[in-house]
Amino acid sequence: MVSEHAAQVLVASNRGPVSYTRREDGTLDSKRGGGGLVSGLSAVDDKLWVCAALSDGDREAVRRGVSEPGVRMLDIDAGVHADAYNGIANSVLWFVHHMIYQTPLEPVFDAEFRRQWASFEAYNRAFAEALAQEAAEGAAVLVQDYHLSLVPGLLRELRPDLRIGHFSHTPWAPVDYFRLLPDDIGEQLLNGILGADRAAFLTRRWADAFISCCTEILGGTGGTRIGVHGLGADADFLRRRSREADVDERMELLREQVGADRRTIVRVDRTELSKNIVRGLHAYRALLEERPEWRERVVHIAFAYPSRQDLTVYRDYTAEVQRVADAINAEYGTEGWTPVLLHVDDDFARSLAAYRLADVALVNPIRDGMNLVAKEVPVVSDHGCALVLSREAGAYEELGEDAIVVNPYDVSATAAALHEALTMDPDERAARSKRLAAAATALPPQQWFLDQLDALKETPSPG
Ligand code: G6P
Repeated sequence: MVSEHAAQVLVASNRGPVSYTRREDGTLDSKRGGGGLVSGLSAVDDKLWVCAALSDGDREAVRRGVSEPGVRMLDIDAGVHADAYNGIANSVLWFVHHMIYQTPLEPVFDAEFRRQWASFEAYNRAFAEALAQEAAEGAAVLVQDYHLSLVPGLLRELRPDLRIGHFSHTPWAPVDYFRLLPDDIGEQLLNGILGADRAAFLTRRWADAFISCCTEILGGTGGTRIGVHGLGADADFLRRRSREADVDERMELLREQVGADRRTIVRVDRTELSKNIVRGLHAYRALLEERPEWRERVVHIAFAYPSRQDLTVYRDYTAEVQRVADAINAEYGTEGWTPVLLHVDDDFARSLAAYRLADVALVNPIRDGMNLVAKEVPVVSDHGCALVLSREAGAYEELGEDAIVVNPYDVSATAAALHEALTMDPDERAARSKRLAAAATALPPQQWFLDQLDALKETPSPG
């Protein structure tokens, strides 16, 4: 596999495969991340990952010349990065693609927005310049996500010889919603991505939305090819990792907290506005209210890990998740039963333990590019689990048939779906769970990545 991809491959993303924190004695601690790109890239020999320094620890690492082989971290000015990442990428582009604005008051495209947009351009330019400098003649460059939408176009100008791909890990907004953006900004974003030889998405639905934005706003997609690659769960890794001793330990702890003979409804998310955690809690509350037979007999295990806490709306949302969970526990909890077990500190081994225990997995996002949790739980689950799945998650395209599908805004319907999931016949549940696991692992991360490389090579160059 390695020799097949002997030509140089570069990946560019905001968040890289490694991060640094400063220890008390001043030395740096490095932590490696996982994910589809990390395992995909492991099949390639000659590679470089260009990413941004995100924290003070990362910046310190760049300044001291500390780095991992195959990684180049860009020390972009902290203010410019904050404007680009918090201001534009996460507060504008993420909101547009997930359709989460409260439109009577937001967004406001004013002088402050224009100032932040200039930073977004500078940040994209810094990536394009670094890639142009590092790439060998004819190399393949795979640019990731909405943060770097302008990179393909900028890089194409600097290095017409490169094969450039762009991949969106998020949904793409329908054209009427995309048009919230100022006209010139919308055009710049589309043209930025169309600088790539190939632009790819997680599902057909997001690819079609992108195509219709290009068609209606620009008159077409130019010479850029559009592809779909539905990232799957990493079955080998998950099955092995979820059977390690630390996961067993956490399972014991969780079992104690849940109590004997109780069912579990499990969710694991970043505390993300689009994940719909609060409505999920309201649905659980409605289940307890309307079907009292479940009181004392079920526990909702909700792991909501910190995310984007620089943004006020995310901090407020986190507080609301906590408040609603506390309210349910205060209203329904008894001496020996805590209805909601909420954890907000990230612990991967504990997440896997919850996956194994789950009778029901609740995945109800407002909108989601794919949602890997929906794919991971059936793979890891010990006795098979029922999946309650939002039709607005990308994973719905592949898993919809064997899931109990919900409209994420409909709290009553979600409560009814939870009841249906909890009462599903065990054989039926096991059979569905098996099919879900098979669908979820159809395209493992390494293949997902190599398919994109192959497709990029086969794409005729526009030049
Ligand atoms: C989504 C995006 C990724 C992003 C991740 C975590 O999956 O598609 O690009 O890295 O969320 O968000 P964060 O802002 O913490 O990088």
